[in-house]
Amino acid sequence: MEATRAQWKSKLGFVLAASGSAIGLGNIVFFSANAYAYGAGAFYLPYLVSLFVVGIPVLVSEMALGGETRRAFPQSLGRIAGRPGELFGWWALLNAAFITMYYVTILAWVCGMLLGTLGPLWTEATALPAFGIDSLPNPVGFFFSMLSSGWVLVLVAVVWLLNAVIVRRGIATIESAVKVFVPLMWLFMGILIVRGITLPHGEEGVYLLFTPDFQIARDPGVWQGAMSQIFFSLSLGFGIMTAYGSYLPKDADHANNGIVTACLNCGFELLAGLAVFSLLFAFAIVPQASTIAMMFFVVPQGIAAMPAAVKLFGFVFFLLLLMAGLSSSISLLEAICSAVIDKFGWSRKKTLTIACGIGILGSSAFALPQVIDRGLASNGTLGLTLLDLIDHWAFSYGLLVVGLVECLIVGWLLPASRLRQMVNANSRFRLPAVFDWLLKVVIPLGLAVILATSLWGELTGTFYGTTFTLDWAGSLPVAAALFWIGSTILGAWFLTSRRGVAQPAPRLEPAEAPEVPHAS
Ligand code: TRP
Repeated sequence: MEATRAQWKSKLGFVLAASGSAIGLGNIVFFSANAYAYGAGAFYLPYLVSLFVVGIPVLVSEMALGGETRRAFPQSLGRIAGRPGELFGWWALLNAAFITMYYVTILAWVCGMLLGTLGPLWTEATALPAFGIDSLPNPVGFFFSMLSSGWVLVLVAVVWLLNAVIVRRGIATIESAVKVFVPLMWLFMGILIVRGITLPHGEEGVYLLFTPDFQIARDPGVWQGAMSQIFFSLSLGFGIMTAYGSYLPKDADHANNGIVTACLNCGFELLAGLAVFSLLFAFAIVPQASTIAMMFFVVPQGIAAMPAAVKLFGFVFFLLLLMAGLSSSISLLEAICSAVIDKFGWSRKKTLTIACGIGILGSSAFALPQVIDRGLASNGTLGLTLLDLIDHWAFSYGLLVVGLVECLIVGWLLPASRLRQMVNANSRFRLPAVFDWLLKVVIPLGLAVILATSLWGELTGTFYGTTFTLDWAGSLPVAAALFWIGSTILGAWFLTSRRGVAQPAPRLEPAEAPEVPHAS
């Protein structure tokens, strides 16, 4: 099996794919929205600490895990911790699948806006009969009218189809796609940032982004925000980097790959933050902290206020979002396909058809156009409300739980010293011994404290979502949370308990000699 496992054609292909996965909506808009919500410059301290102390070590571990076991995420963890490890790996993939489903729905809205930039998005106002509103200024009006129309369901199917086309022959087709997408993303971002900074007053946004505020770092909420941002942005806790790493040659340099990917990702994030903040300041727009508002109203409003070439810049912005988003969503589709194929030996076609079918259904739920809340200040439709609720659990809690448990498994059971030796055997940059303690103690402890504080606050104070003014469906917040936890646990249990075709690979014993790759 190992002799036939596909391999990246070049190291460049792998780095483009890994950075394409990492760079996404998270970098372009979620970062700016989160940074603004937590006081812009104040966000940087927790963000950088999360990046260096948690992000890079976890990224290198996830890649190395795949590179060493040459298996997808559940099977990799299974080789370290047996069935419980595999169960947990499937749970992580299912949690990530929830995120992917709403991520694709957001991409469908991006497609709708992209079409809108050809004309209707820039008109004065749009009528919103479904909300009982005669006219609402654009781009907000255009966005909500799209949200409350059934058309988005078609766009959802289109985006899933695009995903399936790119993943149709696994990393071969992924590599071709990212060779086009990733350079174009950098080019488009370059155009936007030059435009943003050269606008009058644009530089004031830059000052705000870089004015530190140490007081705010005392708020545990900021740490949860920064930590989740790092996990999401670097695609950690999705099982993606393990799947991508499993297609690397045996002697790959994981430390180098991880550091390069992290630098590309955070460099892009920094540029995007500069572009967005300068745009906002140039036009004196007060951002709404929500990520959706940032992407769909605030930035387009800034673009609409530009002196010239509004349509062109609008088009470039949404095309950038679409390409960046697709190069991320395909990576999870591949992580799931490789896990299913590794375990059940299904054909790629069958696996992709089933995965995309389920994906279309799930993403459609987040696109349901029924208006359940006429207050436009909140979520409006049933789909967007569900998205907000599931995002809260799968993103702010799920990813961090995955990070916590995977560090414990790799740190104590593999254990970390062995992973470090394996990485260092092929790496120019040697991981220092403190790496072991980061994985074993520091990261799990930090994540546990953050998770426990937030969850405690939530269970004893206000449960997320119960303050929404929902016209009906008041039990939705609790139902969504239960659905998320119930379906991921049941699904993971089901997938683990089925007998796979391939014999499970032997456990990675601590003293096991490195495997010699089969000659083909
Ligand atoms: N890192 C991506 C971002 O910053 C998020 C992401 C990566 C993602 N892989 C994904 C989202 C798969 C959904 C599905 O936007």
